[in-house]
Amino acid sequence: MRTPESGSEIVVGLDLGTTKVSAVVGEVDADGITILGVGNVPCRGLRKGVVSNIEWTVRSIREAIDAAQTMAGVEISTVYAGVAGSHIRAHSSDGVCAIAGREVTRTDLDRVLEGARAIPVDADRMILHALPREYVVDNQDGIRDPIGMSGVRLQVRVNLVTAATSCVQNVVRCVERCGLHVAEVVLEPLASADAVLSDDEKEIGVAVIDIGGGTTDLLLYADGGIVHTSVIPAGGNNITNDVAAGLRTPMAEAERLKRNYGCALGRMIADDEEIEVPGVGGHAPRRVARRLLSDIIEPRVEEIFAEARRRIEETGLLEQVSSGCVLTGGAVLMEGMAECAEEILGMPVRMGFPIGVKGIVQLVQGPQYATAVGLVRYGASQLSDAAQRSHLPQQMRAAVEDTAAPAQGKSGFLNWLRAAF
Ligand SMILES: Nc1ncnc2c1ncn2[C@@H]1O[C@H](COP(=O)(O)OP(=O)(O)OP(=O)(O)O)[C@@H](O)[C@H]1O
Ligand SMILES: [Mg+2]
Repeated sequence: MRTPESGSEIVVGLDLGTTKVSAVVGEVDADGITILGVGNVPCRGLRKGVVSNIEWTVRSIREAIDAAQTMAGVEISTVYAGVAGSHIRAHSSDGVCAIAGREVTRTDLDRVLEGARAIPVDADRMILHALPREYVVDNQDGIRDPIGMSGVRLQVRVNLVTAATSCVQNVVRCVERCGLHVAEVVLEPLASADAVLSDDEKEIGVAVIDIGGGTTDLLLYADGGIVHTSVIPAGGNNITNDVAAGLRTPMAEAERLKRNYGCALGRMIADDEEIEVPGVGGHAPRRVARRLLSDIIEPRVEEIFAEARRRIEETGLLEQVSSGCVLTGGAVLMEGMAECAEEILGMPVRMGFPIGVKGIVQLVQGPQYATAVGLVRYGASQLSDAAQRSHLPQQMRAAVEDTAAPAQGKSGFLNWLRAAF
């Protein structure tokens, strides 16, 4: 095992998905993020994005970390872990504070965000993120980055993301059982979006739809900030189940047929195309029109996109999602997904592959790796935040760290979680 070069840090993203665990090791330095190693292991320990079997999940995490560690040649001790599932909720909140000096500093920012987090949440829930939508300095609103601005009163409008404490605890518990430390638990769609979006898209307004095995995660950016996040409890596994039932074939065969011949839009398939469907329980294979397969798949995919559209409309921000929709997650690899999404959502659609990293990128190029790569990017951004703080005078830094630890959901909440076990 080698130690990282001086001036660089190792950041590891750990995506606990319904179908697989992915560990991605990145080396972060002034030039950006270099992917050093990747470990992908199938996992059956989650249901619809939530840990349902600790032992199975722990086993997959161990294997994925071992593989990533061996490939990267570095020892992994800390990870940024993802969390997802229908228990995730988003609420709007405001925070306000007096600007301590003549201009806004990072300390003011941390204080105002801390204020925005001070809302009552149910005893069994916790705040995962406070995502700033805009800042207001005195009466000037719509500010993205108020640092250095003059004023006396700083206000922030945030999107608070809350999660069921037990679901977050189970993620932490699984990771810690592998002898690893959790730097932070991060909302998975936030990570996926960060990995696939350009800054322009975030600025102009965009919808990200991550269709995984168990869930479909929706995240909306408008006016440069995150304005909505929610989880639709259906994904690629539902499509496979439909195919297995509809064609009366074993699950493994249904998965294979879906991946090799599936199409989300039946009219893209020629009438004479045929596929062979293996039978269940010793029944002989049959040849059927490929169109039959897409007739089974299409309604489920339509249902997912229609629900996404309904949720976007419900926010009242459809018009502001001006750069359209970016599709990511493993299930979008199916032929016809972008075309079907474009029809139902009524906006331009593109495929989202992880960007903004170098190194062995060919191993993380698919949309199914967006979350793990996004977790590495998130971890890297936390390092640069910490570096900015380390340039502050010592006294000021102590003040920031005092207020920021719970606000960032770092050691504060992890200690609290441990105490709650
Ligand atoms: N080529 C393909 N065509 C169609 N579907 C595919 C293809 N490749 C992968 N999938 C589907 O993608 C899904 C897995 O995607 P992904 O790895 O993003 O999910 P996950 O992160 O494990 O789950 P989740 O995010 O829901 O917890 C599976 O349902 C799988 O069948
Ligand atoms: Mg996923």
